Amino acid sequence: MNIKPSDQQRLQQLLQHLEQHSKIALGYPVANDFDYTALKPFMDYVINNVGDPFVEGTYKVESREFEREVVEFWARLMRAPEDNWWGYVTNGGTEGNLYGLYLARELHPKGIVYFSQDTHYSVTKNLHFLNMRHIMIRSQRNGEIDYEDLRETLKVNRDVPAIIFANIGTTMTEAKDDIGRIKTILAELVIGQYYIHSDAAMAGAVAPFLEPRPSFDFADGADSISISGHKFIGSPMPCGIVLARRNHVNRIARSIAYIGNLDTTITGSRNGLTPLILWYAMRAFGEDGLRARVQKSLQLAAYAEAQLQAIGVQAWRNPNALTVVMPQVPTWVQEKWQLATAQGISHIMLMPQKNLTTRLIDEFVADMASVCAMAEEQQL
Ligand SMILES: Cc1ncc(COP(=O)(O)O)c(C=O)c1O
Repeated sequence: MNIKPSDQQRLQQLLQHLEQHSKIALGYPVANDFDYTALKPFMDYVINNVGDPFVEGTYKVESREFEREVVEFWARLMRAPEDNWWGYVTNGGTEGNLYGLYLARELHPKGIVYFSQDTHYSVTKNLHFLNMRHIMIRSQRNGEIDYEDLRETLKVNRDVPAIIFANIGTTMTEAKDDIGRIKTILAELVIGQYYIHSDAAMAGAVAPFLEPRPSFDFADGADSISISGHKFIGSPMPCGIVLARRNHVNRIARSIAYIGNLDTTITGSRNGLTPLILWYAMRAFGEDGLRARVQKSLQLAAYAEAQLQAIGVQAWRNPNALTVVMPQVPTWVQEKWQLATAQGISHIMLMPQKNLTTRLIDEFVADMASVCAMAEEQQL
């Protein structure tokens, strides 16, 4: 397959653009310290994991065996119940959240979904797709769900099954809702019928390695968990892992003759390369490597927070977060450092990145120091 020189040139320009903009991208949860060169030959095949990863299908150009190993690895880290877990590699956190909500709706068709104000924007769209009744709960200032507001709201809806959509790392402040605490509220209100989904898009790959361990996984009471693969783990294309209790999944499984498999996933055709990417990362890092990555990112986050505070920026972090939050920064800083900004705050995320060292943080702090100096001058 050939393309014109002018088209080749355009690709070259895009490559340069990507290289340049990958160097200083502190605002989004993207790890880019990977090297998946060994997987390039797999680009020559139409790898499609259509159907259930745990059932053999008719189409053999697939990587299901590797997908199963990935899912098993993360199920173990998420303390899934022995012999009662299931999962697959998704296109990202949003699909995993849609899946969790879909299972919840099948289990509790009349249930109400409770989620905090700080929940990712895609969730209301997912709820719209699924036509599920839902109530937004206030957030605390740090982004965590307001447990009192949750309690009061649940109290007036005690006759309806509760579907809790918990954030394990909110988008802007990386706040983690405490599933243990939510379960206590449900028990106190004697709400017996409930479902808990953990949206661990951002922090799912981090939380198992934190001390103290956040209350977010199956052993803590989750029914399903969604994790993004392209965030902390690192992948050149969006992907994720969704895990659920197998008994919930069995309720929705349908046998499809055309693929010789079960239809248990959201999409039909499924990416067969991303399971290989996640498998490669899993084999390269292992649990110890992931733990070390978490430690390194935490150290960089603590460093960035301290340096910003030292120059007078009101920077703060949730406990054990990789996200440093600060008052909204000027547009030129947002543009230069690709900083997500919303609700009057900006943040930097200290993800495993090729160029991310204390030196890069110092450069960012120097820019912020000039912002502080300009603000002071304007006040004089
Ligand atoms: C808390 C949270 N949930 C869900 C998502 C969506 O994940 P994805 O972009 O992998 O679909 C994000 C993305 O930033 C997120 O921060």
